[in-house]
Amino acid sequence: MVFFHSRPSWQLSESQVTPERMFWQRRRFMKSLIGAGVGLAAASAGSCQRSKAMDADLSLTLGEPLTGATLNSAFTDAGRPPTDQAFASSYNNYYEFGGSKNIWPAAQALPTDPWTLEVTGLVKTPTTFDLDDLTQRFALEERIYRFRCVEAWAMVVPWIGFPMKALMAAVEPTSEAKFVKFTSYYDPEVCPGPGLVSVRGLPWPYTEGLTVAEMANDLAFFAVGIYGRTLPKQHGAPIRMVTPWKYGFKGAKAIVKIEFVAEQPATYWNTLAPDEYKFEANVDPEVPHPRWSQAKERLLGASTAQFAWEEQPTVIYNGYGEYVAGLYA
Ligand code: MTE
Repeated sequence: MVFFHSRPSWQLSESQVTPERMFWQRRRFMKSLIGAGVGLAAASAGSCQRSKAMDADLSLTLGEPLTGATLNSAFTDAGRPPTDQAFASSYNNYYEFGGSKNIWPAAQALPTDPWTLEVTGLVKTPTTFDLDDLTQRFALEERIYRFRCVEAWAMVVPWIGFPMKALMAAVEPTSEAKFVKFTSYYDPEVCPGPGLVSVRGLPWPYTEGLTVAEMANDLAFFAVGIYGRTLPKQHGAPIRMVTPWKYGFKGAKAIVKIEFVAEQPATYWNTLAPDEYKFEANVDPEVPHPRWSQAKERLLGASTAQFAWEEQPTVIYNGYGEYVAGLYA
């Protein structure tokens, strides 16, 4: 993304390919957990079986089993096999916790319990939900979605959560509401940021936005889980946005506030670099990023090695045109 990477993310930095350095980073992380007396539940055999490549330390971060979700039959086949979790959950963008893809150890500092999500603004029923309210009030479903980062890497992940329109129905936006602003958790004491001197004054907290019509679309989803378990912190626990026809930066993690508003809200990336990261940000092979083409994408973990990328053509709306093209006609 802008300012943090002088090269596309799929050109790997040394720290991402040096197994020895990774090994020591993980040892330090485990030591800090033990030092702090943190008792993380051991990962289930189930999650370990998903990948022989799963690092034992990474598996400790993967959340609790999340049962009772129904597989949504419209979203069982994303046209590609799901990405191995060992790759999806160790190659992340979460700039509150660092500027590299290897933020999963640092993201474990995110405090997620207790958690409240305030829904406010132009709604008839402003409501503050805690996590139990959200997971008990809205029927949980599993959806296998394609995911496309603006940096041109892609994956397929099984999310668990509920449609955004279910939450809209609960709070009843008024007719004046045209846009929705989503705000991520941020505490400067907890979130070190990307750690570069050159990026002082970033527009924290991370914010994103949708139109009310986009939020009401069938595809728009709030995820509270992934791969059959609660969301790992590196993916934005305990609740994040998922809008699979848009570039991944639209999917704000660890959401604490949702506001229905009349005007298009300022958002994090659009504020930092409006020419590079548009508010709409729909996946489109014909519209290059100013610094690279979007015609092709690289599948994360397409082979047994995380960085053995496979190139595929990018598809308009990430393949979800039948659901969303009408929004932009
Ligand atoms: N949300 C917050 N709060 N902070 C971030 O840095 N990065 C975004 C998005 N949501 C980001 C965020 C970007 S650029 C991408 S590509 C996706 O999260 C990555 O999601 P993943 O790490 O779960 O794959």
